Amino acid sequence: MAEILGLGCTHAPMILNPPEEWVNMRKRIYGGIPEYQAPPSMLEELAGDDGLAHDRRNQQRIADAFAVLKEKLHAWKPDVVMIVGDDQAENFKRENLPTFCLFTGDRVDAYPFHRPSGHKNLWDAAPDAKYSYNCPAEFSRAMLAHLIREGFDMSSATRLSGWDWGLPHAHVNPLTFLDPEGELTILPLFVNCYGEEAGDGYPPRPTAKRCYELGQAIRRFLDTRAERVAIIGSSSWSHSFLTHKFNRSQFDTEFDRHNLALLEKGEGSRIAELTPEEIQQSGDHEFLNWLVPLGVVGDRPAQIVDHLEEQSQISFKVFAIWD
Ligand SMILES: [Fe+2]
Repeated sequence: MAEILGLGCTHAPMILNPPEEWVNMRKRIYGGIPEYQAPPSMLEELAGDDGLAHDRRNQQRIADAFAVLKEKLHAWKPDVVMIVGDDQAENFKRENLPTFCLFTGDRVDAYPFHRPSGHKNLWDAAPDAKYSYNCPAEFSRAMLAHLIREGFDMSSATRLSGWDWGLPHAHVNPLTFLDPEGELTILPLFVNCYGEEAGDGYPPRPTAKRCYELGQAIRRFLDTRAERVAIIGSSSWSHSFLTHKFNRSQFDTEFDRHNLALLEKGEGSRIAELTPEEIQQSGDHEFLNWLVPLGVVGDRPAQIVDHLEEQSQISFKVFAIWD
């Protein structure tokens, strides 16, 4: 049996910024939504100071939750840290967008602060600050062969060349908190979470069921190996600007609370039953990143480190551990 540690966290762009910057992120996102109407609970959060007091509290909670995950991850001493995230038209665009892509190179770089929104970051790092990670090429190629022979038509990449900035933010943003020194061996997996939502010509996202099944197949591979493997699901859950049932004006708190309860009870396999329409309506596109780790860890209860559900957060955020 493989030794496995599961983690779940957010990769929201705002987590890199000081809380004083969050108001600008909100204005940018909501300014792009026609007929945007803030929900009443958010208006209360914003009253008086544009939400700064809430943002300061929430930023501290996010930093504290990442600190718990970081301590757990490093104390557990993984041989490999697999991180599952989506590539949001960064390396992979409509002309070549795999459903699932496993990174099989031996090294990867990232520049988490290159975007204009990342210039004012919590660490006062330069926009061209580079993060570098060793990757387990032999291990990942063996995993790829296993998955393809099981019937998963996986894509793979030995190098990221779609843009100049290496790992997408879904992977590197959590790593700026969890492994800023590049001490761990990182294995990125990419899932096409946005699908058709990304624009005309983009291919459909995979189903929750298929993501979960991929996780189960990865688990069967891990059970043949001796390495200690940590797997991280990287994404917020419902996003306000993706939630079609609320005209993209608020995230779906009730839907995510329901899924959170399933996670706590160790019933992750029931989350795999979500339909594409439910995911689309509730704006949970990126939750697919968590479905792969859920398939790996199986039906065991998650420890919820924290969860944030104030609407001024733009997305429902969960921090979880399976050990
Ligand atoms: Fe994202």
